[in-house]
Order: sequence, then structure tokens, then C-alpha cells
Amino acid sequence: MKSNIQEILASLPPQVVNHIQHLERMRQDFVANVSHELRTPLTVIHGYLETLLNQDLDETKQWKKIFLQMHQQTLRMENLVENLLLLSQLESHEENKIEKEIIVSDLLEIICNEAKELSNESNHQIKLYTDKNLILIGHEAELRSLFSNIIFNAIKYTPAHGRIDIYWHKQDKQGYFSVKDTGIGIASEHIPKLTERFYRVDPARSRDSGGTGLGLAIVKHVLLRHQSQLDIQSVLGKGSTFTCIFPESRMRYLSI
Ligand SMILES: Nc1ncnc2c1ncn2[C@@H]1O[C@H](COP(=O)(O)OP(=O)(O)OP(=O)(O)O)[C@@H](O)[C@H]1O
Ligand SMILES: [Mg+2]
Repeated sequence: MKSNIQEILASLPPQVVNHIQHLERMRQDFVANVSHELRTPLTVIHGYLETLLNQDLDETKQWKKIFLQMHQQTLRMENLVENLLLLSQLESHEENKIEKEIIVSDLLEIICNEAKELSNESNHQIKLYTDKNLILIGHEAELRSLFSNIIFNAIKYTPAHGRIDIYWHKQDKQGYFSVKDTGIGIASEHIPKLTERFYRVDPARSRDSGGTGLGLAIVKHVLLRHQSQLDIQSVLGKGSTFTCIFPESRMRYLSI
């Protein structure tokens, strides 16, 4: 896809290419500016709603339900704004300056505990299989977001008591992060579109669970910035496996 676009751009006159690049920058700036401007008003509304919800609202019971819904929707909007800001930052083509050696197994353990909290009463069986000495060189916050998005999706789209297996290992010199679930699965026609912004197989279901449809778009951009790839295998009704493949140049072994 990427090489296709590059081939088309290469065949166009330079003025047209410049114009397209200018429009693309305008689009990115617009999204970033709007998201940034929405941040403060949303924080204020969120704060006031929390104050209201902390009051004794017994006499005004009908209001409590309304305030709770407003609070929930404010959280959704905040989540959306944060994800849009993160995406704009990832798209900005600025190079990562703060890359470091990341002990992936430690990071995955933290995310796994968060996943267990998210799973809560659904009681998923979450198992972690990691090579503890295998280190990845990259941007920690971006990679944390990538791992969490894929793991939290597995929880969200796997019915109660389902299995989620998380792997981190090296094979043929490359690093493999893989999440296998026994969830609802994805029909093959949707798979190529999953990393597009706001693409959801079932928008109503995703929205109900607080989804913004930006998670896998973030994953795609983080992987691009780490010269890495995403592979998605899925069988409808049986489950999915999301695999990120990191190049040899980013892999190190912890010296003991
Ligand atoms: N493990 C999975 N099993 C089944 N469907 C999945 C899985 N992961 C993602 N999907 C599908 O891909 C869509 C896009 O995922 P994405 O993470 O981008 O958005 P989301 O989960 O809806 O919202 P959020 O922005 O909160 O992550 C989802 O709406 C869902 O339909
Ligand atoms: Mg998601």
C-alpha cells in the first residue's frame, strides 16, 4: 500500500506533489489543533461533574443518572482527544530522540496486570510467555501504547472465560510480540482495513465498550516508526492472533 502511494506520487509533477503534501500537513495540523483546544474545556467539565457526583444527590436521584452518563461521555471524549493527539504526534514524522533499551517482559507484566483489572468479572485466562532476557530498542511510551492496545483489544473482543496468550520471543533474529485470543474473530474482508482511523467491525458494539476506533491506527504508526510490521490472523467465531515483528537491528540480549 505504502509503496503504491509512493509510486503514484513519483509519477506526478512536483507542483502537484507539493500541493498534496501541503494539504496533508494542513489536515494533520487541523486535527492536532482542534484536539488540543478541546482538552481544557473537557477537563473543566469532567472536574465539575466529579464534584457533583461526590455530593449527596439523594434528593435529586433523577439527576444522578444524568450526571453519571455525562461523566461517562466526558471520559469517552477525553479518551478520543488523547488518542487523536497521540496519532498526530506519531504522524508528524519527527524522529524518536528518546529511544532506549526496554525490558519487554517487565513492561508486559505491568500491562498484563492492568488487563486482568479490565477483565474483572469476565475472568479471562490471561497467560504470559516471555523471554526475559530479550530486549527491544525503542520509544517506551509508544511501545507501551502499542502493547496495551493489542492486549486490551483481546480482552474487549473475547467473551467471558476466554483465553488470552501473550508471547514475546526471538525467531530467525527478529523479535515477535504476539497476542492470541479465543474471541469473536474478524471476517477476512475487514482485516486489511482494521488499522484505518475510526474503522470498527461493529461500530455500535465498540462504542458501547468505550472504543474510539483509533487503537490499531496508533499501533500501525508506532510500528512504522520502529521499522516493524503487523500480521493479523483471524477466524470468525474462533479467535484472532495479532503479531508485531521487530527487525534484528532493534533486538539485544541482556548480558548476565
Ligand atoms: N482481538 C480482536 N478480536 C476481534 N476484533 C478485533 C480485535 N481487535 C480489534 N478488533 C476489531 O478491530 C476494530 C478496530 O480496533 P481498534 O483497537 O482500532 O478500535 P477499538 O477497539 O474499537 O477502539 P479503541 O480506540 O478504544 O481501541 C475493533 O472495533 C474491532 O472490531
Ligand atoms: Mg482497541
